[in-house]
Amino acid sequence: MRRISMFMCCGMLLLLSACNDATSPANAPPVTTPVTPQSRLSAAAQAGQVMFFDQTLSGSGKMSCATCHDPNSAYGPPNDLAVQLGGTSMTAAGTRAVPSLRYKSVTPPYADLLDNPDGITAPGPGGGFTWDGRVDTLAEQAAIPLLDPNEMANTDKATVVAHIKAGPYADLFRQAFGQQALENVDDAFANAGKALQAFQMEDISFHPNTSKFDLNAGNKIGGAFTPAEERGFRVFVDPNVGNCASCHYNGAGINGSSSLFTDFSIEAIGVPRNMAIPVNGDPTYMDMGVCGPLRKDHQPSAPHAADNFCGRFKSPTLRNVATRTVFFHNGIMHSLEQVIRFYNTRDTRPELWYPTEGGTPKNPPDPDFPTYGLIKTQYVGGQVQKYNDLPAEYIANIDPQMPLDGRPAGSATPMTEQNVTDLICFLKTLNDDYVPGKTPTAPECLK
Ligand code: HEC
Ligand code: HEC
Repeated sequence: MRRISMFMCCGMLLLLSACNDATSPANAPPVTTPVTPQSRLSAAAQAGQVMFFDQTLSGSGKMSCATCHDPNSAYGPPNDLAVQLGGTSMTAAGTRAVPSLRYKSVTPPYADLLDNPDGITAPGPGGGFTWDGRVDTLAEQAAIPLLDPNEMANTDKATVVAHIKAGPYADLFRQAFGQQALENVDDAFANAGKALQAFQMEDISFHPNTSKFDLNAGNKIGGAFTPAEERGFRVFVDPNVGNCASCHYNGAGINGSSSLFTDFSIEAIGVPRNMAIPVNGDPTYMDMGVCGPLRKDHQPSAPHAADNFCGRFKSPTLRNVATRTVFFHNGIMHSLEQVIRFYNTRDTRPELWYPTEGGTPKNPPDPDFPTYGLIKTQYVGGQVQKYNDLPAEYIANIDPQMPLDGRPAGSATPMTEQNVTDLICFLKTLNDDYVPGKTPTAPECLK
């Protein structure tokens, strides 16, 4: 449990006006998001900026970092696909949903026992980049998409370096890393990662802090919450209602702003299997997060051997989450409401989220059978396959905290209908590019 105050710190709120100069790449952030003028970025970050948008850095010649991490979608995916298509012919499907790259620059390295920022909860797995925390720096992270056959699909490091050498920013790269910077392949490839890291660290478009929440936390004009947003915040922090803050909140954020809306903890919450991901057509394939198969250092010692790391994925930041149309590591959910409903009814109505085996469809379904779930058919009889994306032996790893406290099916939900509506209103205040008086507020969030 943690206590937090909305008005804990203000710090300097960077409300720089947009400065999209003519040299900015074509796919540059929208004008409302502040961008650091190129001249104020280090040479490494300037090189990284051009690389981030450079499609020639891919086997297909059609994919850059920005293809999946779109600056117009808070550096998250530009569409609602569970996984993106890449590879040399742009038809190879990935295995995980694209996270936002905003507010990542202060992520601590992965640790099996990361201190919880609340200082109360016991330390546990946390930190690191990707959904399973398997890389420790933004620089190392860049190597994954550059070489992944389903993503940018370069044959090897030398190919990447050859592209940089041939590109218009080769000189900028040498300016940043030395005249010989493109001669040794391993060094040059590592520096490419450092350039991309520098861009993500330095450019303010990755951490603009221009949400209504930031205005509110800084007691700034236009930041006053509506009654619904205020109630939603209480749902978010109340350990007996939403309890979201227990995983999605840490104390201080970037540039003195408040919270990154993740405590970097890596938890198992039993997200349902997504059959829309091609690799999941193989019933023996299970993405179990920290215990593999993508991550290699915490795999069970033998098949089915006890392993406390199986099923765990990183609690992502909730900043800008209301702009997404695809949620969770496997992209199974497609609206924020659906995610909140999952938290509220995973245990009370598991049949809405996991397939039922052996039942008979009820036609037509009861008039009050909810349509927000993943499962649209109501069954009579049969067995709900709860936690169907985790082998039975690892179900004990699932975190028992509110609101996913394992209460019996059919019992009352942790949140009321009003709580759900209010919580969504609060989460919308975490969207950047908020302009008081201009950014519309949904009618239900005004009350
Ligand atoms: C084909 C789509 C695609 C492309 C292209 C792509 N990424 Fe990603 N990115 C992803 C996915 C999917 C993940 C999650 C990977 C995982 O969990 O294993 C990710 C994760 C990340 C993360 C970790 C974020 C976090 O929350 O921990 C960073 C940083 C990142 N990508 C940077 C880059 C950079 C830099 C490039 C260009 C060199 C790039 N990405 C290109 C799809 C893509
Ligand atoms: C026990 C820790 C925990 C609690 C409590 C918790 N979450 Fe999460 N949340 C996670 C983890 C872990 C994930 C990623 C799970 C995955 O993808 O398998 C996640 C993912 C999400 C996502 C998807 C974000 C994205 O980018 O895909 C949203 C939205 C979200 N949580 C909102 C909430 C809200 C709202 C609450 C409170 C009602 C809440 N969470 C409570 C741990 C938690």
